[in-house]
This record gives sequence, structure tokens and C-alpha cells, in this order.
Amino acid sequence: MTQRTAILSIDGRSIELPILSGTLGPDVIDTRALGHHGLFTYDPGFLSTASCASDISFIDGDQGLLYYRGYPIEQLAEQSDFLEVSYLLLHGELPNEAQKRDFLAKVGKESMLHDQMGKFFQGFRRDSHPMAVMVGVVGAMSAFYRHSSDAFDPVQRQTAGLRLLAKVPTIAAWSYKYNEGEPFMYPQKRLNYAENFLYMMFATPCEEYLPNPILARALDRIFILHADHEQNASSSTVRVAGSSGANPFACIAAGIASLWGPLHGGANEATLKMLEEIGDVSRIGEYIKRAKDKTDSFRLMGFGHRVYKNMDPRAALMRQTCHEVLDELGLNDDPLFKLALELEKIALEDEYFIQKKLYPNVDFYSGIVMRAMGIPNSMFTAIFALARTVGWVAQWQEMISEPEHRIARPRQLYTGAQRRDFVPMEQRG
Ligand code: CMC
Repeated sequence: MTQRTAILSIDGRSIELPILSGTLGPDVIDTRALGHHGLFTYDPGFLSTASCASDISFIDGDQGLLYYRGYPIEQLAEQSDFLEVSYLLLHGELPNEAQKRDFLAKVGKESMLHDQMGKFFQGFRRDSHPMAVMVGVVGAMSAFYRHSSDAFDPVQRQTAGLRLLAKVPTIAAWSYKYNEGEPFMYPQKRLNYAENFLYMMFATPCEEYLPNPILARALDRIFILHADHEQNASSSTVRVAGSSGANPFACIAAGIASLWGPLHGGANEATLKMLEEIGDVSRIGEYIKRAKDKTDSFRLMGFGHRVYKNMDPRAALMRQTCHEVLDELGLNDDPLFKLALELEKIALEDEYFIQKKLYPNVDFYSGIVMRAMGIPNSMFTAIFALARTVGWVAQWQEMISEPEHRIARPRQLYTGAQRRDFVPMEQRG
């Protein structure tokens, strides 16, 4: 087949640029040759830029599709579990039985932290935000696990990825325990990944703790739904940080820092804050009115999405889980959850929200589910980070093992002063 090209005509010159097709999604114009012509593309925020080629996940925002390695998210959420999905993201294929057993055993074995790391936590203030602790402690893994820090060694890369997947839940749970002033709980091999996280969050040495299987399954689903989402801000951050060959733990810490921002991972926490502010079903009308008012900056948190202009497929799955959890815990009549469900109902029926395609997003429901489980708001983004770690590792591995791998080094449109001469102090006005 002949190569399709796009012709850029500039100052009487024609530059022919190849058009590349992926397996799904829009074609892209390969602009790499522009640099040879002294030209760069200008696209702040990457609104029209494919920053890399990737095999890992695919989103179609118009149709409301999300695939991991080609598998629809619905099938994975309903028929798989988080560690199987993690294997898929890291290795490209679902594991067979023996591979899964081996993978689970390796993750279990790596889930403990270096004993000295417990002391590292003690350096933080007791009231530190869990994300602040996570950025610090995950970054510090490069000091504790130096022999899996070489990004250019494929064996060390594998070990680092496994360690991150296994140890980040322990770090997240311990950041909560540290806030609470409770003893750190060690992961238990007898428990699965989500059960273990609940155990490390809520167990104490004083009494037996048995994780509720429905809640563990709901948490596992939250992990699956947040595991990867193509080239979002934090995944792009990990790729850019890692492109210099920086060690993997520092790169994942950079991803956590990016995720922390309220425009990215913070929406689930913001949703709960908003529900608390609304306070009562009788005040929903007032807030819906404010959300529609152009002169008011208020927005309904947990509604709308930049990419999904149809229902976010993750939100549909999370909605189902949300109802299961509220039923299981008998919380349907709890004022805050009643308020959330009423808000969802009114917004879904409101002409403004229908017309603008503003559906509840995954964070609307995941915030409610986590609150129902007794997880404090401050841990919501930390749990998102825990789930996204495997996606970040997969994106980092893909980037660094790419044969054409190069350091990420964008150019700029310079808008500052032109050349001028230094002015001595006595001559300055
Ligand atoms: N409440 C009220 N109106 C809204 C909302 C909302 N949540 N979201 C968008 N709109 C209106 C907006 O005012 C605009 O109206 P108009 O066309 O009259 O100017 C129109 O809808 C389009 O909005 P936009 O800001 O151009 O849309 P966007 O694609 O840039 O923003 C968004 C997407 C997610 C930032 C936005 O919907 C929003 O701020 N939502 C609330 C925050 C939230 O829940 N964020 C989590 C997103 S999911 C997490 C993830 O996957 O990373």
C-alpha cells in the first residue's frame, strides 16, 4: 500500500509528512522531519499530539470504550482480578495458570518493606497528607533497592516493576497508619491483593481482622478501573522523567506527584467535599442552579470528562459496585449517600447535563464507595496512585525498551526579550 502523506505548504516550500495509522484510533501526522526544516509544532497541553506509540491501553471517548491490551474494561472488571490485569498490562498477555501462580507468589514475597523504611516514615509530621508521604517514600525506594535501579538493565527493570506493584500498597496503607498513630501492619500471604490492603489499613495487633469479601472485591474493581488510562498527565510525567534513564522509583514518585493535582487524581476527594458542603437533599436544587450559572465558578465535582463524551465505561461499572457496597453495608439511607444518589438522579434527568453530555464520572462513584468502606477522603488519591502504579510501570517499561528510545526534549515558542546588553547597576532606572 502506498504511504499516505500530508503536505504542509509554507513560504512557497512544500513539506511532505507521512501519515501513520495505529491498530485503532485516529491516524497521526508524523512531524519528526519538521526539525530538519527549522520548524517545530506548537501544541501546549498536547491537545493534538500523540506523544508516543503504545500497545498498552486504548480509549475511544466518543463511543465510551476503554481497552487494556485489547480487552474491554467491562470484561476485565467482571471476569478478572487486579493482579491478573497487572500481569496483562506488564506482559501484554493474560497469564496461564502456572504463570499467574508464579506472579502472585512473587508479588506476595515482595510486599514487605525494607525494615529501615519504617523508620523513614517517622521523619514525617503525623498530619502529613498520605500523598506527600507516598511521593517521599516511593522516591526513597531508590535508596533501599539500589540493585534494581538501573533502567537500562532489563532484569533490574523487571525486578523494580514487581517491587513497585508489591510494595506501593504497603506504603499507602502505612501512610494512613502513620496519620492515625497506629502500628504498621505487615502484609499477609494468605490474603489477596485488595484484602491485604484493607488488612494493612484497618487491622490492629489487638484483634483479629477479616476483610469483608464484598468490600475487597469492590476495592479490587477500583484498582482494575484505575490501572491505566493511556497518555494521561501522570503517565506522561513518568515517561518524560524516565526518558533520561532515571531510576524507576524516582520516575514513579514523579507520577505520584503529578497525579496529586486536583485536575487529575484529586476529583474523588473533591466530590466528597462537595457532598459534605451541599449537606442535605433539600439543597441540591440550589447547587444544580449554581452549576449551570455562567457567572458562578462552581461545578458539580464528579461530573463530566475531557475524553469521554459518552458515559465513561468505568463509571458504569463503578456505579454497579457502588450500589452493591451501599446495600452490603446497609447505607442506602445514610444522609450523605442518599444525597449522592439523589444528585446523580437529578443530574442525569436535567436538560443542561444531558445536552452537555455531563455524566457522573468514575470518581463520583469511587469516592462514594471508598467513603462507605470507611476510607478517609485524604486516602482517595493515594489509592488511585496505588492502582495506577502498574500502569506507570508498564508505560515506563515500554518507553525505555523502545529501540528508537530517545530522551524527551521538547522545543518551545520563545516569547521573551530579544538579545540585549547587560546594564550596570548605576545605569538602571
Ligand atoms: N458541572 C457543571 N458544568 C460543567 C461541568 C460540571 N462538572 N463540566 C463541564 N461543564 C460545562 C462547562 O461549563 C462548559 O459549559 P459551556 O459549554 O456552556 O461553556 C461545558 O460543560 C464543557 O466544559 P469544559 O470545561 O469545556 O469541558 P472539559 O472537557 O474541558 O472538562 C472536566 C472536563 C472533567 C475538567 C469538567 O467536566 C469538570 O471540571 N468536571 C468536574 C471535575 C471532575 O469531576 N473531574 C474528574 C474527571 S475524571 C478523572 C480522570 O479520568 O482523570
